Amino acid sequence: FRLIAHLHSSPNRHSSFGIAFDIDGVILRGRTPIGDSPKALKRLYDDDSGSLKIPYLFLTNGGGIPETRRAAELSRLLGVNIDPIQVVQGHSPFKNLLARFENELVVATGKGEPAVVMSEYGFKKAISLEDYASYFNNIDPLAPFKTWTTKQPCTDKSKYSESVLSFDVTSERVKAAFVVSDPVDWSRDIQVLCDILRSGGLPGEKSEHQPHMYFAADDLEYQAVFPSERLGMGAFRIALENIFNSIHHKPLKYTSFGKPNPFVFKNAESILMQLQSLTSDADLNGGYENMKSHHFETLYMIGDNPSVDIKGARQAGHPWFSILTRTGVFRGKVNHTEYPADKLTVQSNACCYVIIAD
Ligand code: G3P
Ligand code: MG
Repeated sequence: FRLIAHLHSSPNRHSSFGIAFDIDGVILRGRTPIGDSPKALKRLYDDDSGSLKIPYLFLTNGGGIPETRRAAELSRLLGVNIDPIQVVQGHSPFKNLLARFENELVVATGKGEPAVVMSEYGFKKAISLEDYASYFNNIDPLAPFKTWTTKQPCTDKSKYSESVLSFDVTSERVKAAFVVSDPVDWSRDIQVLCDILRSGGLPGEKSEHQPHMYFAADDLEYQAVFPSERLGMGAFRIALENIFNSIHHKPLKYTSFGKPNPFVFKNAESILMQLQSLTSDADLNGGYENMKSHHFETLYMIGDNPSVDIKGARQAGHPWFSILTRTGVFRGKVNHTEYPADKLTVQSNACCYVIIAD
């Protein structure tokens, strides 16, 4: 990915534009940068001081590790200094639910460290679905056949605070289940989530009340390392929902976050405004005092998935301008029919050119 930016350089002027980069299929494929994405990002920093020149952030539906760690990982892979504020993951909006579930038992699942993500947001009684399941003998009848699992139940207690460990998990109702990132063991997760959801939060019990169910995103497919798209969290949601609705008399109630939800773009805009003020008034380590809002003329959403990235930017409206790459989910020769981007990148290989004129 090569970004040729005609960046205006007056150091004391607020940038009139900002950029939101999708990660999978635009910046990275797996852990490998796509094309010249590191070079492109470098251009958004001042050559001499190294401070941020153009406000930008990563707007990904992926996740599984806290934003602080993702920022450090991205900095390493892309060779620029990325602040955690610039990393918005699918699960980042979960922190807005803290007031509701701070002291309640909540279960989190997905690749990476879903319980760590939740406890970093402040949830005091968040436990991974894997550890939760280990408290219920034979809850997953297929577990003995899963020869690839070597982990002993709940051995790694260091990731939990005392408050999680000090009560009997099997006697307290789960108030909410969070799919933080792409689930690893679909059969176990679907089984245990169905148990939680149709028992009022305590597997084995009977209750009419369904605990809350949250998904970080709803991508049906996404671009990973394999040449064709991989099934994403939306595919898992369809599987869970269909099974739950087939075994339970009331349909599954759930909320999905992530792009293309309009609030994700609103939130991105307000973070970009904070970054805009930092680009001219302070560096990223500076405070947020004396921040003034300057409206953007344009906010570029650069993504590879028409029904997620482009749909979201189109719904968000002004000042969003959508750019569709051909390095990920979308490989078409002409613009997408249902969700056409404002601009389609001109090359179909991994190196595409985006010209942003200011
Ligand atoms: O699991 C990741 C996937 O859902 C999409 O990530 O960066 O393309 O929004 P991204
Ligand atoms: Mg993508």
